[in-house]
Amino acid sequence: MDELQLIEPSHPVATIPSGNVPEPTEKGKVFVETYGCQMNVSDSEVMLGVLQTAGYSAATRVEEADIVLLNTCAIREHAEDRVMGRLSQLSQLKMSRPDMILGVCGCMAKHLSEKLLDRVPYVDLVLGPDSYRDLARLVQDAVDEPALDVKLGRTETYVGLDPIRKVGVNAWITVMRGCDKFCTFCIVPYVRGRERSVSADEVLRQVRIAAQEGFQEVTLLGQTVNSYNDGTTNFSNLLRQVALVEGIQRIRFTSPHPSDFSSELIETMASEGKICPFIHLPLQSGSDAVLSAMKRSYSSNDFLKLVDDLRAAIPGLALSTDVIVGFPGESREDFEQTLGMMRQVRFDSAFMFKYSERDGTVAGREIPETVSEVEKGERLTELITIQSEISLEMNQAYLGREVEVLVEGAAKRVGQMSGKTDTFKTIVFEGDAEANAFVNVRVSDCTQKTLIGKVV
Ligand code: SAH
Ligand code: SF4
Ligand code: F3S
Repeated sequence: MDELQLIEPSHPVATIPSGNVPEPTEKGKVFVETYGCQMNVSDSEVMLGVLQTAGYSAATRVEEADIVLLNTCAIREHAEDRVMGRLSQLSQLKMSRPDMILGVCGCMAKHLSEKLLDRVPYVDLVLGPDSYRDLARLVQDAVDEPALDVKLGRTETYVGLDPIRKVGVNAWITVMRGCDKFCTFCIVPYVRGRERSVSADEVLRQVRIAAQEGFQEVTLLGQTVNSYNDGTTNFSNLLRQVALVEGIQRIRFTSPHPSDFSSELIETMASEGKICPFIHLPLQSGSDAVLSAMKRSYSSNDFLKLVDDLRAAIPGLALSTDVIVGFPGESREDFEQTLGMMRQVRFDSAFMFKYSERDGTVAGREIPETVSEVEKGERLTELITIQSEISLEMNQAYLGREVEVLVEGAAKRVGQMSGKTDTFKTIVFEGDAEANAFVNVRVSDCTQKTLIGKVV
């Protein structure tokens, strides 16, 4: 998965560590499949770490696992439908191997709780995102009868637990959990609980371990990552401390909330060379009426001013965003204001979604839908068309330039490698390069999604 934003990836990710895997033990093998955002990817790594400490080993294929855990997402209805589909597939496996433990974990587990055990009776384990410290015991409990634990902890930040990271060039570091913003469309505060920050000491401990494991890039994660505050350290201080960890060359973070983007943070990004000049800055809508109904706490002008300040301070800054179309009450005119904002800001890329009503949220309870599915689809297509042109033009501005690339590995096309620029552009290129090394690449061509070039 390489989207640097908090959405569900188009394909579930299996967390299969290739290094550091212990010999199989009599405790059995576990397979964790991850849906949703990077916070879930990071949680899955914690889950594997907990189970490995308890004597389990990682399975490389679902068919050979004694324990199968789906770490799920509830952000849109579609995310839950996919997990339901996967569960019905896995029911076959469960039928042929009744001793296999099948667990549903994460946000959808919290969202549906007991209902999940009713709807999918062959599930053995339902665990919310704050229940992983006890994972080994809960898995054992589920051997005798279905186990459910969806309590949210006001203080749980998984301090002291060591994740087993997926092999790659980037280490995910969760620095805060939960969300207190309660945007009216969003289920996250209900399934992830109250906002809490991981202590800076623990974050730095995690970053040091990642650096020792050979990671040169870290991405600090939180639903409103820039509201980080552990009582003594704010987000800017945290970034500065992470930058001091030996071996770390690139620091990214996601997702910042526009309202919490302090001038101190802008200054920190401008002056600390290791912080990458890329920000995923979710806009959601360009209409002030819709932003207000969404309870986003900024106006379109606030957002534009922030973008101006960021671009003035950080040369070459790349921006991506999230947009929702068809929020209840969104008129054609509101939608056109969103289109206008996209043209004005010119994001490098955008993740665009049709509004999906989530029960339990304020909008789900109180704001009846007014935009038909057909209309939502048409607006989405229109938005994507405009953004595609802008994305292509933003990439064309790189033609002829030399960029520093952190190599991720072989590209799909034989003989080519792929990696990322500091601005989070994927680049496919020819030439000698090894994974996890930095190379300079001259950009010779591009599509709206990818730069193309050759090692210089
Ligand atoms: N914390 C992040 C967003 C996390 S969810 C932030 O505030 O920016 C990722 C994206 O999913 C959101 O930015 C939003 O665009 C989208 N999203 C969230 N709830 C949604 C819903 N009910 N329907 C459609 N899209 C939604
Ligand atoms: Fe959801 Fe808003 Fe919190 Fe983001 S800030 S997770 S959109 S409630
Ligand atoms: Fe992430 Fe989906 Fe949960 S976006 S926080 S996995 S609801």
